[in-house]
Amino acid sequence: MWVVPVVLVLFCDFFANGSASIFPLFPETLYHYSPPENDVYFYMYHRSNLSHAHPIIIGNRSTLDYSPFDPEIATVIIIHGWTHGKDVPWIKEMREVMAQSGYWNVIVLDWGALSHCMYIEARVHTLVVAKQLRRFLLFLVDNADVNLDTVHMIGHSMGAHISGDASRQIWKRTGRKIGRITGLDPAAPLYEWPHVESLDELLDRTDANFVDGIHTNGRHLGVMTPVGHVDFYPNGGEAQPGCPLWVCSHIRAVEYWIASLSKPDLFKAYPYDAYNRHLEERIGEQPLTAYPMGIDANPNMPFGVYYVDTAFEYQKYVHSVTSLIDSLV
Ligand SMILES: *[C@@H]1O[C@H](CO)[C@@H](O)[C@H](O)[C@H]1NC(C)=O
Ligand SMILES: *[C@@H]1O[C@H](CO)[C@@H](O)[C@H](O)[C@H]1NC(C)=O
Repeated sequence: MWVVPVVLVLFCDFFANGSASIFPLFPETLYHYSPPENDVYFYMYHRSNLSHAHPIIIGNRSTLDYSPFDPEIATVIIIHGWTHGKDVPWIKEMREVMAQSGYWNVIVLDWGALSHCMYIEARVHTLVVAKQLRRFLLFLVDNADVNLDTVHMIGHSMGAHISGDASRQIWKRTGRKIGRITGLDPAAPLYEWPHVESLDELLDRTDANFVDGIHTNGRHLGVMTPVGHVDFYPNGGEAQPGCPLWVCSHIRAVEYWIASLSKPDLFKAYPYDAYNRHLEERIGEQPLTAYPMGIDANPNMPFGVYYVDTAFEYQKYVHSVTSLIDSLV
């Protein structure tokens, strides 16, 4: 029975460059022991030099003071999922587009050393990552007077649930909520199936003042269940056009998001009910009201689920292609 966990641990440690897993199966003396929280990093990016990563270290005030962090503007935190890290193509593109605008402090949470594992172990690591994210945000609140309402977390796959878990912890401690969480195809395996592991660890609408979800591989790698105040189901939410593989549909949520940064009105979303009625009753006369999917989604739109026919031209706005294989090397 113990063979399986041992194999998984070794596998992860192989990728994580000798750092320890959170299963303390081996005595520390056998190898260099480093607790997994030391493998969670926060990097800030600024338009003065888009390729320069400024590390901000929890508890080290000078790393914050010497970074270009500006407490007067909103903060966005980008969080990747399984097998990804801070330099996969989509993170690079998203952080560059967002930092270039100068509208946000752009921070990338890099847990790459803990995400290059067997899926099941990465899943266990998400708890540590969420704890560090909570500590990081409280560090910003204490040292830069950050208003949590101006914080926006954008998480893909497991990263979506990490955002939800961290925000829930902050809310429990401080009674205050994060401004917005965007879940990009929030992960389903070991969250929603084979069974719901822990509701606390799943992103839901109580986790922030405004939660929006984009579902592109529902019932497979992503959850089909709504996670937010508004949930978008491009092309029905299960499979995306031109995608032969699940991973392709899964990452497409990120590509739609990036496209919306350059062209916020690119995707027209319709409330599902109204859209269905429209199709069934062919009420041609009454035009449907369209709402924006992506960066411009907002708490003033009606809450609920939305259908989106993706504009083919979204590809003009996306230049990154991340495949699972890309990110494993
Ligand atoms: C930008 O940052 C990178 C990485 O730190 C560095 O190598 C490069 O010299 C910097 N460029 C400029 C113009 O400062
Ligand atoms: C804070 O970080 C800086 C830069 O990495 C480092 O030189 C310094 O020793 C750190 N200070 C503490 C108290 O850890």
